[in-house]
Amino acid sequence: MPMKTEIVRIDPVNPEREKIDYCGAVIRYGGLVAFPTETVYGLGANAFDAGGVRKIFEAKGRPADNPLIVHVSDYAMAELACRPDDGEQHRLFYSLGAEFWPGPLTMIVKKSALIPDNVTCGLPTCGIRMPSNVIARRLIEAAGVPVAAPSANASGKPSPTRFSHVFDDMNGKIDVIIDGGPCAVGVESTVLNLDCPVPTVLRPGAVTRGDIARVAGDCLEFDWKVPGDRVERPQSPGMKYRHYAPKGTLTVFSGTADEIRERITAELKSAKAAGKRTAVLATDAEICYYNDADAVFTLGAENDGRAHAGALFDALRRCDGTGAELIFAGEFPAEDIDDAVMNRMFRAAGGRIVPARDRGDGPA
Ligand code: TXA
Ligand code: MG
Repeated sequence: MPMKTEIVRIDPVNPEREKIDYCGAVIRYGGLVAFPTETVYGLGANAFDAGGVRKIFEAKGRPADNPLIVHVSDYAMAELACRPDDGEQHRLFYSLGAEFWPGPLTMIVKKSALIPDNVTCGLPTCGIRMPSNVIARRLIEAAGVPVAAPSANASGKPSPTRFSHVFDDMNGKIDVIIDGGPCAVGVESTVLNLDCPVPTVLRPGAVTRGDIARVAGDCLEFDWKVPGDRVERPQSPGMKYRHYAPKGTLTVFSGTADEIRERITAELKSAKAAGKRTAVLATDAEICYYNDADAVFTLGAENDGRAHAGALFDALRRCDGTGAELIFAGEFPAEDIDDAVMNRMFRAAGGRIVPARDRGDGPA
């Protein structure tokens, strides 16, 4: 039986106090609330309450071995949720926090005994993040407890960056959805492991490896072009799963702008001849070349990584809306935030990045 989901619209600039207090109480007392953060919408439960947390896994259809990030509104709350090891982990946690919090950085450190096992899926560590979105911060404050929250999509679908995305996936499954406007960043937070000899980015985001290295001295990044099922022991359980996937088959072509344009144009022609519905994701400068596609979505200007991040998940969801069976896109140089954008595209494509010139190996 679907449950009745309340929709609460909150002003993203001056959140109404009584609405925030109400939603905070729903979380505190064991309910589920979807709320905007600066990255993507999250699906929040009281991180101290194993019963509330269990409902997150049910509502999303999330595999039980994929741990949740714990969101806090201040350091006192963070210190209830985690216990960074003395020494380097402790030092990095506070110095990176001072630089990047509140903001789109999740740090993995030792967890505290107050966090139940189903939040971390039995791991001794816990991902902690202090979001900067005003609604998110006030909501966590009002809840008065750390908030465990994955992205508020049904498991496997693109993360939600707009209220409508959350509504499509979660209406009838959770207590409250806050409508707090679009998310500013558009890709999920950088997940940084501090429970290892050198800080390591497990999932790229708006805070880049270079940003972290400037503060930490050194920073590694997990090679995300290796598909998760080929990694013997994935460091971050979430990397094992197919993610962000539209219903159609996404193929990403690599090469020069000319090669990519030629290849996508050729693919559109053969798809049309075969009677397949198509969609293309391209930059502003390129969309004019794809008149043969049934739908074309822009990812913004060519060199504007922030625009690409803000547009990607919405564009993938809109592809579904057009019934596209084949979706084509070009690769960007994976620099700065485009590293995160390409990581999500790579996952959405199930690892299918095909050289544009390699005509023999068409999309699956
Ligand atoms: O921006 C974000 O991070 C959003 C918003 C809502 O804050 N949240 C989010 O959560 O993207 P989720 O659950 O969709 O992704 C969390 C990722 C997963 O890949 C998970 O495996 C990893 O973080 N993770 C969480 N705790 C971990 C831990 N203790 N060790 C390793 N990886 C962890
Ligand atoms: Mg997610």
